[in-house]
Amino acid sequence: MNIKHEIVICMGSACFSRGSKKIVDAVNAYFGNNLPDNVFLRGSLCTGNCENGPVMLIDEQVYKKLDEEQLIKILDKHFGK
Ligand code: FES
Repeated sequence: MNIKHEIVICMGSACFSRGSKKIVDAVNAYFGNNLPDNVFLRGSLCTGNCENGPVMLIDEQVYKKLDEEQLIKILDKHFGK
């Protein structure tokens, strides 16, 4: 049985203005717009890290000041593509 993973992207106003929508798009593109059955993607309200946005959590591990290049490395680490 596959372990479930949750990707949470902060969609609060500070993260949104710092590019969280691009992070959502890049996550979807990484998975070819077809998330695996065991991966759940959702947005969240402010996580309290506004000055370090955009912020993403994977299985409760927090990633801050994301850009698309870092994002790919992080997704590779978690999902091994
Ligand atoms: S808006 Fe994302 S941490 Fe506050």
